[in-house]
Amino acid sequence: MKDKHIVVGVTAGIAAYKAVDLVSRLRKAGADVKVVMTKNATKFVSPLVFGEISKHPVAVDMFEEVHDWNVEHIAYATWADAYIVAPATANIIGKMANGIADDMLSTQLLATTAPIFVCPAMNSNMYAHPAVQENLDTLRSRGVMIMEPDSGLLACGVEGKGRLPNPENIVKWVDFHLGKTDILNGKTVLVSAGGTQEPIDPVRFITNRSSGKMGYAIALKAAQAGANTILVSAPTELDVPYGVTFVPVRSAMEMKAVIDGYYHDVDAVIMAAAVADYRVAETADNKIKKQDSMALELVKNPDILAGLGASKAHQKLIGFAAETQYVIEYGKEKVRKKNLDMLVANDVSKANAGFDVDTNEVTFIYPGDQIVSLPTMSKIDVAERIIQALADL
Ligand code: C5P
Repeated sequence: MKDKHIVVGVTAGIAAYKAVDLVSRLRKAGADVKVVMTKNATKFVSPLVFGEISKHPVAVDMFEEVHDWNVEHIAYATWADAYIVAPATANIIGKMANGIADDMLSTQLLATTAPIFVCPAMNSNMYAHPAVQENLDTLRSRGVMIMEPDSGLLACGVEGKGRLPNPENIVKWVDFHLGKTDILNGKTVLVSAGGTQEPIDPVRFITNRSSGKMGYAIALKAAQAGANTILVSAPTELDVPYGVTFVPVRSAMEMKAVIDGYYHDVDAVIMAAAVADYRVAETADNKIKKQDSMALELVKNPDILAGLGASKAHQKLIGFAAETQYVIEYGKEKVRKKNLDMLVANDVSKANAGFDVDTNEVTFIYPGDQIVSLPTMSKIDVAERIIQALADL
């Protein structure tokens, strides 16, 4: 969303107030936002509110000022990187489908060549009406993106489908599609993430400092690249990325069972998880009582990635290595030992790399000791480079 020009079109549904939150979230995500309202929408929310939140004047119906109007609708339409119509009434959907341009918003929607995202919100019978559904099909066939409304109690008092989805999800949806490519179309990619939790007893476990941020960024980028993406994740604090199949696990043994189950059917595995090397030999069934001292016996966990490498057929395998010294030397050895197609190595002793932080500084190591070092960049940019490297492989 960073520096993207977004026009939000607000039409006269009761959910118009939620568009205020949408505009605010888009701005927080780094977008420059202009709002266009239909005349009726201004009866639900004052344009002043949208003006304050967007920091731009709000365009409404400009027929009274014809001298400006012609120029202005084209100016908006060419300025926009994307249009979001939220909430979209049956009326605006009907106008869009039929090429009607009788106010500022509908005219801009015809004049723009930017991608258009439509979030229908209305009474469930209206939404289900064949006229509305056919109009939506027409828009879909022209490449307009339509977000399914949520189900629940509607403002009109009935239960049904027609609620405007939560603005947070609208932002994720638009962001996802604006960054979409097709470099992994038709491929299935499994990404692991997070630090595994190895249970000691029902209330305690051993884990590590992995935040999951790198793996989640990779999963998002894989899905944006068009791959059918499966994210196998140990517990993290993060929101599930848009567009992935999410499989939560806890321990290394659980993660191994899940990944092995998928392995035959995937085209690539990216093991970004920080898998615990050891687990507690015997997990206690009941909470262990306090003692003056105690010793835990640890046994080695299977190396999931090495196992995948040993039985590799058509799959591409990308591993990670977090080291505090001899990063490249250890990395080259890991590529050989685990039979990898690429290893992403990072020195986690550096302040701007590795655990918890939002940036990373990595080196790609390939079989034959070929090396590509990247500068410090955000984890989302590193993820994009990894996905490009996978597509190249
Ligand atoms: O050997 P090392 O633990 O440094 O290797 C790290 C890579 O191996 C990572 O990709 C990690 O996800 C994977 N790994 C694994 N199973 C383990 C330990 C690490 O798959 N038990």
